[in-house]
Amino acid sequence: MQTPPVCNYEGSDYQTSFWEKGGRDYEDGCEAVALKRLLPAAGSRLLELGAGAGRNTSRYSGYAQVTLLDFSRTQLEQAKARLGTGERYRYIAADIYRLPFVKGLFDGATMIRTLHHMAEPALALAQVRRVLEPEATFILEYANKRNLKSILRYLLGRQKWSPYTREAVEYIPLNFDFHPAAIRDWMDGAGFILERALTVSHFRVSFLKKTLPVRLLVAVDALLQPTGGLFQLTPSVFLRARALKTGVKAPQGAFFACPACAAPLDDTPPLIHCPACEKQYPVIDDIYDFRLNPPAEDD
Ligand SMILES: C[S@@+](CC[C@H](N)C(=O)[O-])C[C@H]1O[C@@H](n2cnc3c(N)ncnc32)[C@H](O)[C@@H]1O
Repeated sequence: MQTPPVCNYEGSDYQTSFWEKGGRDYEDGCEAVALKRLLPAAGSRLLELGAGAGRNTSRYSGYAQVTLLDFSRTQLEQAKARLGTGERYRYIAADIYRLPFVKGLFDGATMIRTLHHMAEPALALAQVRRVLEPEATFILEYANKRNLKSILRYLLGRQKWSPYTREAVEYIPLNFDFHPAAIRDWMDGAGFILERALTVSHFRVSFLKKTLPVRLLVAVDALLQPTGGLFQLTPSVFLRARALKTGVKAPQGAFFACPACAAPLDDTPPLIHCPACEKQYPVIDDIYDFRLNPPAEDD
């Protein structure tokens, strides 16, 4: 199966340049509030899709174990440096379009600031559903093309594409904004029931961020987030969804499945061998590597 292209973060200093030095305390604060509101109080196994450098991972403290998955090994190395190793965290380099897990493994998943890199979002969401057990919780953040700024720009003739239509807009290669109605259709098609929507980052305007205290902006954003249940005009939307009751729960002890042929795999570091298709997957410095086509820059 040919899978869609992956946006390459190998070697990227995203965490430092975008978050730590990029003046994004306001967005980070708003996301922390939204996650707190949407996450269940407790759970056993959470899958964090597109975990990056683990910016959000410590927010998942209600879960007994967190599996961080990202296509970029160097992002996972940064996450590991931040969170450490041990029973609580597992680090997996893999493609969201080819998740290396057995069906029905996780009782929770999050995907924050990652769907916007998916050229085939419906395909990605179907993969997420496959590895979730019946009635698992899924928290999804997506970039909303129908936001107030894009509506105003469109009305003033400063933007050619319409914020009202359902097709995605690719504003730079492999970076997409999506229409809320399209997201609802894809989630429904993948087998999720939407439970709650929060609108996030109402004040993502540099003038406001420079003039008003971050804590004040976050507090007012927190007050406005529940309006997401009625309408969504912010650049970022958080959803909590529940997997349908259908499907299977993974058998006790099963975890990995071959991303190439789906056969169950034994967890045998430093090398995982697929008995069905003979592919081999290395485990180096506690990071499992299930990428079928790792990026060339990877060392
Ligand atoms: C914008 S970063 C967000 C990181 C983190 N969720 C956060 O909010 O700080 C997007 C991440 O998604 C990962 N990613 C993009 N496409 C992917 C794919 N097909 N499979 C796995 N990870 C992917 C990138 O490597 C990157 O680390």
